[in-house]
Amino acid sequence: MNITLTILRYNPKTDSAPKFQDFAVKVEPTDRLLDTLMFIKRNLDGTLSFRKSCAHGVCGSDAMIINGVERLACKTLIRDVVEQEGAVVTIEPLKSLPVQRDLMVDYEHFFEAYREVKPFLIPTRDPEHAEYIQTQEQRRQFDDPTKCILCAACYSACPVIRNKEADFIGPAAVVQAARFVFDSRDKGAEPRLDSLDRPDGVWACRSYFECTRACPRGIKVTKNINLTKRQIKKLKEKGQ
Ligand code: SF4
Ligand code: FES
Repeated sequence: MNITLTILRYNPKTDSAPKFQDFAVKVEPTDRLLDTLMFIKRNLDGTLSFRKSCAHGVCGSDAMIINGVERLACKTLIRDVVEQEGAVVTIEPLKSLPVQRDLMVDYEHFFEAYREVKPFLIPTRDPEHAEYIQTQEQRRQFDDPTKCILCAACYSACPVIRNKEADFIGPAAVVQAARFVFDSRDKGAEPRLDSLDRPDGVWACRSYFECTRACPRGIKVTKNINLTKRQIKKLKEKGQ
């Protein structure tokens, strides 16, 4: 099968502006887009830059925009893209994060927001037994956000961030906060309010649902943000 990848290339050190470059390649329909990028790097242009690690949809490092939609290159089958969208595939880096080179973006700001929400268990006491006991129902309460692989697809897709409507902490950071806020063993909701309960915290979300659409792990991102908003309101009512 012959396809053309149209890739947005940019080296901020040497280029005045990003520009698209076409690569015509012969691929197997069962190849993934990541395989094709690796083929190009090995055989056609060693300077093409992109991130990848696990190649199995687990590490989150190869999120990029494929035909205008945030996806993981390792989870995108060539056959599916070509059948549904044609044999010319456009690839761009994630939006709202500075481009380091080609498809590689700088995640510093994204991870700063992640660290801000204290994404770790904050218990107030030692466990009564050898471990903290939790029922299956209590565990189910935060099952959805545990699936997050910090790929930043939601961050790129978020119109609030993209259009600079607010300096939003970002959907992924709230999902990571929700992972612990709804954990019965955690008592860290209050210390997390500093980063969540402010205009650029959860309240900057305007429920566009683009994050939910973009998430390659199927996380109900907007729902998690709205549940966190509700939890913050409850906490504040209790404190009054
Ligand atoms: S919530 Fe989904 S899209 Fe956002 S960082 Fe986590 S896995 Fe990626
Ligand atoms: S390379 Fe790890 S998620 Fe794609």
